[in-house]
Amino acid sequence: MAKPSFSCSACGASFTKWSGRCEGCGEWNTISQDAGLSVGPAKTSLGARRGRAVALTDLASEETPPPRALSGIDELDRVLGGGLVPASAILVGGDPGIGKSTLLLQAVAAFARKGLKTLYVSGEEASAQVRMRARRLGLADAPVQLAAETNLRDILTTLEAEKPGLVIIDSIQTMWADNVDSAPGSVSQVRASAHELTTFAKRTGISVIMVGHVTKEGQIAGPRVVEHMVDTVLYFEGERGHQFRILRSVKNRFGAADEIGVFEMTGAGLSEVTNPSALFLSERGAPSPGSVVFAGIEGTRPVLVELQALVAPSPHSQPRRTVVGWDGGRLAMILAVLEARCGIPFAGLDVYLNVAGGLKISEPAADLAVAAALLSAREDRALPADTVIFGEISLSGALRPASQTENRLKEAQKLGFTSAIAPAGGKTGTLEGLAMTRPTDLVGFVGEFFGAG
Ligand code: TYD
Ligand code: MG
Repeated sequence: MAKPSFSCSACGASFTKWSGRCEGCGEWNTISQDAGLSVGPAKTSLGARRGRAVALTDLASEETPPPRALSGIDELDRVLGGGLVPASAILVGGDPGIGKSTLLLQAVAAFARKGLKTLYVSGEEASAQVRMRARRLGLADAPVQLAAETNLRDILTTLEAEKPGLVIIDSIQTMWADNVDSAPGSVSQVRASAHELTTFAKRTGISVIMVGHVTKEGQIAGPRVVEHMVDTVLYFEGERGHQFRILRSVKNRFGAADEIGVFEMTGAGLSEVTNPSALFLSERGAPSPGSVVFAGIEGTRPVLVELQALVAPSPHSQPRRTVVGWDGGRLAMILAVLEARCGIPFAGLDVYLNVAGGLKISEPAADLAVAAALLSAREDRALPADTVIFGEISLSGALRPASQTENRLKEAQKLGFTSAIAPAGGKTGTLEGLAMTRPTDLVGFVGEFFGAG
């Protein structure tokens, strides 16, 4: 137990024992025993000793929002929530080799050209290697300062002296904080380094972007352990063999989460894709069974994407259910609803579902599009050409309107689609040139497009 302590309610003086009169201010009967702040052993509990009272303000305090820095790379600025917030800590995660260093070198050069003082710290590559890449990307003339270093103490000392507006740490797994007794890349090193950098950013007003590698399964020492410390978490995703790369915000204290920026990896680095719908649909051929176009929303932006399904008799006792770019559990649910509510069984059939272009979809609004793709593949019958489809399916087989129906339909109009299938309800706006079909339940939808079951 902590020793009891006493204090005077008039002047705040503290004493080790009670007395009737305060020696500090001379008042009578003002001394009482302090209650501990919390209970527990004196050594480990915060209750043993009082802290300093912190200054409090109210919600109405006038504080102008900090000006954000824009890189001019729109796909990046939007994902950041409208530019880079000063003193923010950002984590950019992704598989090794996906293009994180390329993206951040281009980003840092863009910020530097806009007049922000920038520093790029590489713990993985020698300065000469970074310089070589910069030359290849046509960025050699950008006023970016470069360092190849892994000692965090030295890096922080340099930052303190240089006071840049933005620093890139590539990568957090290579950083070494000498106050922690473990190897770089271990969970405790990664966590300590990220904590140091984040608090340093808050204290000095320097924005920090940290690169973190993730592995497909483990993420043992991956960036997951630092996600809660930083303000913004971005993931750089893409399928190997595809040139598309998607920068997705999964957490953002300064903007919408789930916002995406789309890039294409070319021989000269990453280039922005300003119209992702056109890109995701570019490989689409003539309407074919199993292929439908889903009108989705990613963050604040509508994105049209092709869903492809293949349904074939299974040689296995346990038929396969394979999904790329969507949730496997959700697929199982759609299959179950189709079977239970519409009487369309998928037993004995292998089911494959793919989101074209390497995009990952998490919206429930894709339900109806998935159901349509599955039925279209199963019945070997294509949906009408130039049709987009979206809507949520409930377990009862009822269809629910998706959020932002109007935006989805607008995007479809813009890309030359002539008809849309979406559940009844939801604001549609003007629908010039777009023929709407508005089913209220799955049975009605199946009957209309595939005959009765
Ligand atoms: P990199 O940025 O080094 O990936 P990360 O930092 O995420 O590990 O990118 C490596 C890949 O990008 C590499 O396989 C080659 C490819 N790449 C291009 O296709 N074009 C380019 O201009 C550059 C710089 C890289
Ligand atoms: Mg790298």
